[in-house]
Amino acid sequence: MNVLVTGGAGYIGSHTCLELLESGCGVIVIDNLCNSNPKSLQRVQELTGKTLKFYQGDVRDGALLKTIFQENPIDCVIHFAGLKCVPESVAKPWAYYDNNLNTTLVLTKAMQEAGVKRIIFSSSATVYAADNTMPLKETSRTGDCTNPYGWTKYMTEQILSGIAHADEKWSVALLRYFNPIGAHESGRIGEDPRGIPNNLMPYITQVAVGRRDHLSVYGNDYNTPDGTGVRDYLHVVDLAKGHVAAVKYVLAHTGCEAFNLGTGVGYSVLDMVNTFVQVNGVPVPYEIGPRRPGDVAVCYAAPDKSAQVLGWKAERTLADMCRDSWNWQSKNSTGYDD
Ligand code: NAD
Ligand code: UFG
Repeated sequence: MNVLVTGGAGYIGSHTCLELLESGCGVIVIDNLCNSNPKSLQRVQELTGKTLKFYQGDVRDGALLKTIFQENPIDCVIHFAGLKCVPESVAKPWAYYDNNLNTTLVLTKAMQEAGVKRIIFSSSATVYAADNTMPLKETSRTGDCTNPYGWTKYMTEQILSGIAHADEKWSVALLRYFNPIGAHESGRIGEDPRGIPNNLMPYITQVAVGRRDHLSVYGNDYNTPDGTGVRDYLHVVDLAKGHVAAVKYVLAHTGCEAFNLGTGVGYSVLDMVNTFVQVNGVPVPYEIGPRRPGDVAVCYAAPDKSAQVLGWKAERTLADMCRDSWNWQSKNSTGYDD
């Protein structure tokens, strides 16, 4: 079975390519490397002892996609390619709507022409409206996004749902990720953000490795046990395994279904810092700062549907996530540039 992975050189994509190869799938990657390094794919091949096929190019390039579908017998597509930085999306909405929507439109048109009608999409917990009660279920209200990035995820879900409605042979899995962190246990692949990290764990690891002075904790006056924001962090290897389960699902079903990929457990910012320090024995100086605009107090998943329908459950603990994040960062202090 062959899987086309768009954005496969990126953080979640590279871990998923590894799990797909380990599960016996053939893997074809298209990535324009706008936010990744091809070393990730070299290392995936070294770790697995298996090869994958890599096309460097843009998913909005319909001619290239046509070639890829002609040259490879593809059964299913996992669509990771996209821009993902929330504040950048507020500053550059054009770039986000262009990239995140047109990749999906050009890709699904090429798939339709090639007769490939199974797709797994990287959606996000950000599609859920802020006024839901926790835990978030797949049936919780979506929309009212607070930034263009979130809207691109919401709109892509609508586009893919419409395609599955128009042609009943399509099978679409919308995977709504919560907060992926961690790295492969080898420490050979991991998250390598460009510039100053926006997300908590890469910021913590860069403070721990000495690249940044201290962590700013964005607010300690939320209605949470310690006042800091609570999120559902999940290990990227568990998330990658969720994609292997989703491949099996789309092979056996048609229609369009959304799935939460999270642990169902929320941890606060201070839980994260304290666990990281305890597990790794390295200091992480922090200061309490003001709230970050747009942040919600609490966000965590109801993961029951994924357990029941996909047969997938996150297994790794917060200590595993903190250990593996640090293992990657300490072995690669400047990411793939080392
Ligand atoms: P990433 O930036 O590491 O990976 C995305 C990859 O897509 C990169 O390798 C980039 O070079 C590539 N890419 C972007 N635009 C492209 C284009 N037009 N053509 C070809 N390649 C292109 O990000 P990630 O963390 O691995 O996220 C993967 C997906 O999951 C994204 O769609 C993201 O929005 C989504 N997601 C991520 C998170 C998270 O916290 N990391 C949470 C929810 C959803
Ligand atoms: N935080 C800090 N300091 C930092 C960074 C983050 O205190 O330097 C806090 C935030 O305020 C929040 C928590 O750490 O309480 C997690 O923040 P992240 O930026 O790591 O994650 P978010 O939940 O805000 O956002 C992430 C992705 C979004 C996605 C969303 C829902 O970055 O793209 O999850 O899936 F939309």
